[in-house]
Parts: sequence; C-alpha cells; structure tokens
Amino acid sequence: MTDTITLLGLESSCDDTAAAVVRHTPGQRPEVLSSVVAGQTELHADFGGVVPEIAARAHAEKLDICVEEALLQADLYLRELDGIAVTAGPGLIGGVVAGVMCAKGLAAGSGLPLIGVNHLAGHALTPRLTDQTEFPYLMLLVSGGHCQFLIAKGPEEFSRLGGTVDDAPGEAFDKTAKLLGLPQPGGPSVEAEALKGNPKRFKLPRPLLDRPGCDMSFSGLKTALLRERDRLIVEHGGLRRSDRADLCAGFQTAVADVLAEKSRRALIEYMTLAPKTPTLAVAGGVAANMSIRSALETVCDQTNAAFLAPPLALCTDNAAMIAWAGIERFRSGQRDDMTLQARPRWPLDQDAPAMLGSGKKGAKA
Ligand code: KG4
Ligand code: ZN
Repeated sequence: MTDTITLLGLESSCDDTAAAVVRHTPGQRPEVLSSVVAGQTELHADFGGVVPEIAARAHAEKLDICVEEALLQADLYLRELDGIAVTAGPGLIGGVVAGVMCAKGLAAGSGLPLIGVNHLAGHALTPRLTDQTEFPYLMLLVSGGHCQFLIAKGPEEFSRLGGTVDDAPGEAFDKTAKLLGLPQPGGPSVEAEALKGNPKRFKLPRPLLDRPGCDMSFSGLKTALLRERDRLIVEHGGLRRSDRADLCAGFQTAVADVLAEKSRRALIEYMTLAPKTPTLAVAGGVAANMSIRSALETVCDQTNAAFLAPPLALCTDNAAMIAWAGIERFRSGQRDDMTLQARPRWPLDQDAPAMLGSGKKGAKA
C-alpha cells in the first residue's frame, strides 16, 4: 500500500473556471499533472467588473470541459483518482455553487470522496505545493479580490494579521486604469505606463500608514487620483501622455509603499513565533507587479526573511492550489459528503473580526 494521493481540483469562485490534477507521495515534491484554466475576461469586458450571473453561467458551461481536459492532460481516468476537491467558498455564490454541484455529481457518479476547500486556503497553501515551505510562514494574498496577511500555522490553522478595509489592490489598479482610459485588466497596463512616468510628481496618499497594525485601505488612493486627473483635464483640456504616465507611476509607488510598510509590520509580528526559516510568500495577480515585488523583496532583505513568489500561473486563481489544499485536508482524514454547502463568505481565521465590504470580485473574507 502506498501513501500516494492523487486528487482532481475544481475552482470557480470568481472569473476563472479551472480544473487540475495533483499527485503527492510523502517525502517527494508534489506533482501538478495538469492545470487547466479558462478565463472569462472577454465576457465581462463591457461591464467594468465581473457580472456574477454571467460568471455563474460560464462556469456551469465550462466546468465539465475543463475536467475532461485536466484528466486528458494528466492521462488518467476518474476512477484512478483518490478524490475530488472543490472550492466551496468564499466567492461569487453562483460560481461556487456551479463548482460544488459539478464536484458532487462527479463524486456521486464515481464513488470518490468529496473534499470542500476554502479558496483562500488554496492560495495560502501554495508555497507548500511549489516549495514545500514548512509551517509557520507569512503569507500576503494580494489580488483583485483579496488583500490580507496570514500566518499559516497548519493546513487549517491560519491567523489573520490584517487586511484591506475596502478595495483590494488589484481592484484599485483596475479602477485606476479605467479612470485613465487604459485597457483591462488594469494591473499590467498601469504597470507598463508607470515605467515611463515620474512617481514623485503627484503627492498621492499612503492610507492607514499613520495607524498601527496591518490593516490597509486603497479606495482613498483612487479618489485622490481621480481628483488629480480632473484638475489636469480642466488645466490642459485633456490628459497628456506624460500626465497619464506620471499618475500611473505615482499610484503604483503609493500601493508598493503601503504594501511594503504593512509587510514590515506583519513580518515583525510573525517573527515573534521564531520560525526556523522566516519566509514571506505572496499570492495573487498583483504579485506579478515588478515594482511591488521589489519593494517586498527589500523589506524581506532588511528583516532577514526569505521572499517567495510562486510562478504566476500558481499565484493567480487556478485549480492546482485547490487540489493541493484538498490533499492536505485528505491526509488529515477530512472528508465531506453530499451536504457540502457553497459559502459566499468563509474567513480562514474564524477568530479574527470580519472584514466588511464586497468588492467587484465578490465577498472579501
Ligand atoms: O489573482 P487574480 O488573477 O484574480 C483574482 O483577483 O482573484 O488577480 C487579478 C488582479 C487584477 O485586478 C489585475 O489587475 C491584477 O491582479 N494584476 C496586477 C498585475 N497583473 C495582474 N496588478 C498590478 N500589476 C500587475 N502587473
Ligand atoms: Zn483568488
């Protein structure tokens, strides 16, 4: 008898439909046998954000196609797997329901066990999939829908040190791009513009830096940028190229400064646990931003912590992280059954106070 576990993972909590197969044998590196992601960017392009009903329908249409493709690429039949892991929340509820129903159908049809996974745990456990990082480590989730610091202490044990009280940074990048007439997703287009700009020309705020703790706020930054934009339009009759580039550079630097300073504070708090190899890991689309990455790397250098950024395909929403988080739960003997519920909100740290608000990408846990 071998302890090897092979799970199918399903993800449909936001605007990516994904299926993946991951295999793990104790003492060996986990293997991502396949990871299929079908995005929905074009479906929502005209609406300036993810439309939950459109997302749910698209998930329902794409899930079985992604599962078929993931099994084909892994060269496995369903019956050769040990179980089916699925995102059961938090997220846009229609999409989460579509994934949970698909997983229940597969489990009922095949007789395989079902494992419900918290989407945030999927992100937070990714460093163990990619680098076998040992607990405890510090995690910064920073995407279009999430922004929080977590200390990962065990597969189901997380302490939240702080998070955004309003927009997630990716959401702020997307709104900034919209205000400046740049294409979506906003992160990459704002980053490209920022390369040509002067980050010091505009004095944009660094919200909540004057307050202790690790909570963050990004919506005031966007309002300040809107004010500068409107002033420039009145002064010059429109936005010049240099104005747009300088606004992008100023905005990006402000976000990087806030994330860096709050990371420094989170690292100091985490270091009190005396981790063997102190590590700050990031996940989420915003981790692709080179200037934010280098700001975080600098903070890690200064605090003698390792900086870990998994490959982008495993940083952004994907199902390999769900399969992996499922493997961690499966190993500890956890299983779900047909009563598994889809949850719009599902904080990882049940003891932390609720973060209010719901972003354009769904509920913030
Ligand atoms: O993790 P992700 O793919 O999806 C979720 O939000 O769950 O992250 C997407 C977000 C978008 O808001 C996008 O604008 C942002 O990540 N993003 C970036 C960059 N690339 C993607 N933000 C800043 N700089 C980038 N290079
Ligand atoms: Zn996510």
